[in-house]
Amino acid sequence: MSKKVETLRWIGDESGHLVLIDQTRLPTELVEIECRTVEAVWEAIKQLRVRGAPAIGISAAYGVVVGLQTGRPLEEVIAYLASSRPTAVNLFWALERMKNAALQKRNLLAEARAIHEEDRAMCHAIGRYGADLLKSNSGVLTHCNAGGLATAEYGTALSVFFTAQDQGKRLHVFVDETRPLLQGARLTAWELAQRGIQATLICDNMAAQVMREGKVQAVVVGADRITANGDTANKIGTYSVAVLAHAHLIPFYVAAPTSTFDLSLPSGDLIPIEQRSSTEITHSFGKQTAPEGIDVYNPAFDVTPARLITAIITERGIIEPVCEQTIAAMMKSS
Ligand code: MRU
Repeated sequence: MSKKVETLRWIGDESGHLVLIDQTRLPTELVEIECRTVEAVWEAIKQLRVRGAPAIGISAAYGVVVGLQTGRPLEEVIAYLASSRPTAVNLFWALERMKNAALQKRNLLAEARAIHEEDRAMCHAIGRYGADLLKSNSGVLTHCNAGGLATAEYGTALSVFFTAQDQGKRLHVFVDETRPLLQGARLTAWELAQRGIQATLICDNMAAQVMREGKVQAVVVGADRITANGDTANKIGTYSVAVLAHAHLIPFYVAAPTSTFDLSLPSGDLIPIEQRSSTEITHSFGKQTAPEGIDVYNPAFDVTPARLITAIITERGIIEPVCEQTIAAMMKSS
């Protein structure tokens, strides 16, 4: 995304506030909102005004600073923010860091700023490791939005594409539109256009045909939670893309910082999957597209089994093959 626009930023000192791009308004309007209460931060996360695992974590960290301004107890503020969305572990990771900082009597705004800055650095490092995996003049496919909008800046999956382009490689990115909330069409397509990367938008159900036509040489996606064995939760539809990539012998890469790993869970079956409102499917963007009263199932995420993942690209290096031992070794390194 453009260097002038920041996904989120803090204004002022401890009595300041959080400003973020309202991502529900993109791509037609680039509008920022101010979050001056912890309720406003919670609502922004819940309604996906700010979304993407790392960006949710950073927002929640600043949300703690906002919440404490009115004298509410720390535990209450943290529990409240933790109730906003269940799947992205970065939310809980960031809140845990804020809690520990408070227990150690460290400055909480400084800790939130550190989480923010570290994410920026992690995204750039992921890009550098990931770009080596891509060949020039190749087609790549991504799902949802794991770009600058989902992180402090630059993104995870998109950071790989941006870095490859900066290195002079030519890529053609196929962008899954990502039903039902269209993060691919609205956000990823917008970010790629901002950076002048060649991109083609496809409906989610077209990925198989595009692969069959030989147009895709690699898939790169982000993650919301990676368990100890490498099973990976990401936006609903990611699992189908992984199955398709496997069937077409196309490498399937997950790009994620170490803050997205949850080693407390042995496998993906235990990841809580957010269930969202049926109206996201029956009344997409305000227009009724299904009969009244139809039963709807709307899980926001799915879990891709580790065996379908060629490698995980982290800020510390590449995990390959993806299994408990290689993940544990990478997480112990620094
Ligand atoms: O529901 P969202 O838009 O928050 O889902 C986002 C994703 O699934 C991203 O791929 C993931 O959080 C990684 S973002 C770097």
